[in-house]
Amino acid sequence: MEKKDKEFRSSHFARLPVKYLPPEDKYIFAPPNPKYKFNLIGTGMMGLEHLRVTYLEGRATIHGIYDPNPQSVAAAQGVLSQIDSNLKLKVYDDLESACMDPEVDGLIISTPNFSHISVIREAVKSKKHILLEKPMATTIPDAHEIYSIAKNYPAVFQIGLQYRYKAMYVDAIQEALNHRKLGDIKMIHILEHRIPFLDKVKQWNKFNQYSGGTLVEKCCHYFDLMNLFAQSRPKKVYATGSMAVNFRSFEYNGRKSDILDNAVVSVDYENGVRAGFTLCMFSPQFYEELMLCGDEGHLRTYESVDFLPGPKQKTSLEIKVGENSTSRISQPCYPTYIEQSGHSGATFFEHKYFIDTIEGSKSSVATAEEGFWSIVVGYAAQKSIELGGPIKINELLQEYSINL
Ligand SMILES: NC(=O)c1ccc[n+]([C@@H]2O[C@H](COP(=O)([O-])OP(=O)(O)OC[C@H]3O[C@@H](n4cnc5c(N)ncnc54)[C@H](O)[C@@H]3O)[C@@H](O)[C@H]2O)c1
Repeated sequence: MEKKDKEFRSSHFARLPVKYLPPEDKYIFAPPNPKYKFNLIGTGMMGLEHLRVTYLEGRATIHGIYDPNPQSVAAAQGVLSQIDSNLKLKVYDDLESACMDPEVDGLIISTPNFSHISVIREAVKSKKHILLEKPMATTIPDAHEIYSIAKNYPAVFQIGLQYRYKAMYVDAIQEALNHRKLGDIKMIHILEHRIPFLDKVKQWNKFNQYSGGTLVEKCCHYFDLMNLFAQSRPKKVYATGSMAVNFRSFEYNGRKSDILDNAVVSVDYENGVRAGFTLCMFSPQFYEELMLCGDEGHLRTYESVDFLPGPKQKTSLEIKVGENSTSRISQPCYPTYIEQSGHSGATFFEHKYFIDTIEGSKSSVATAEEGFWSIVVGYAAQKSIELGGPIKINELLQEYSINL
């Protein structure tokens, strides 16, 4: 078969405001010619990231938005006018109109966690492509309902578990799973030290009821990665954790916050892989680390943002395989303009692969099934902390009459 030439393509050059060139002389600097229109449901912190990244990626536009908070609507309009003052957003009065607009090809849903289930029930009536933010739901029955809907959905149904597209994890997946450089993976350790949860509209992330709990809300990203590296289903989860420092005196509408700010979670997988996860959310930095050990080698990768001055390495990836093969130390990264667009560039690639999947390419985007299993681990960990003992996953699923 004849191989198609790959042309140089850069959203960076295509977005530079080059004024001196007549439009017909622009080739490298030619502005993107978007093919798809998406609507954005929820334009808070993450919705605005989706807005910016959609335009940076270049193959789609955001046609319209729906958000009941007027400040969020105004913020989205402000972000769009910074991208291009000629662009305008359609602002819908209700969710149904935003979902059903025949002009639009896809929906990006970035509303608070507890609302995903009701938004999805409406959104799927449109049969449009869907990118639903993580965690896909806050409870196991809701997550299972979404997983069941997605199984037979006639368009793309992608979950926003985009950490797998951080450069550090892309390289780790490539080396450990595709090249099998470590042999059979036996142990996985993931650690996150970071600053507390940020403010949100109506402070939904300070309450287990609205977020699903810290280990579902935030840590579903890490449990997704754990499940991916283990290549197996979780069998047993044991966790400890507490509210040690953050939000201990925080109240909203007379209600006290009840979220964890630290935890240690251990997961046994059906194939014998053992995994551990450590979370600390009262650290003056962002530090994320993954360690994998197989029967032929070891991999460690990290990402570090400590807000201190001076040149420092943001990421590192080490593979040490002793006498089995070559070892190496590297620095996984993307071009700066992509890394700066949000979540170290992971959201950019989430959009790229969302559109590639719409166009029929096979890609590694997170499925609703993977989203479901990330929630199962997070939910089991929350429950383990609550009850003070290990949670067997088959028993947990049986409680909800789920047989998988
Ligand atoms: N993938 C990631 O790395 C990542 C990072 C941050 C947040 N998120 C997820 O994105 C979602 C939004 O988080 P956020 O940080 O933007 O929160 P946010 O509070 O900043 O924004 C949420 C927005 O949704 C709006 N909203 C509430 N109910 C709505 C409804 N029914 N329909 C339409 N809009 C509604 C709110 O008014 C608000 O503007 C959450 O599910 C969160 O977990 C994902």
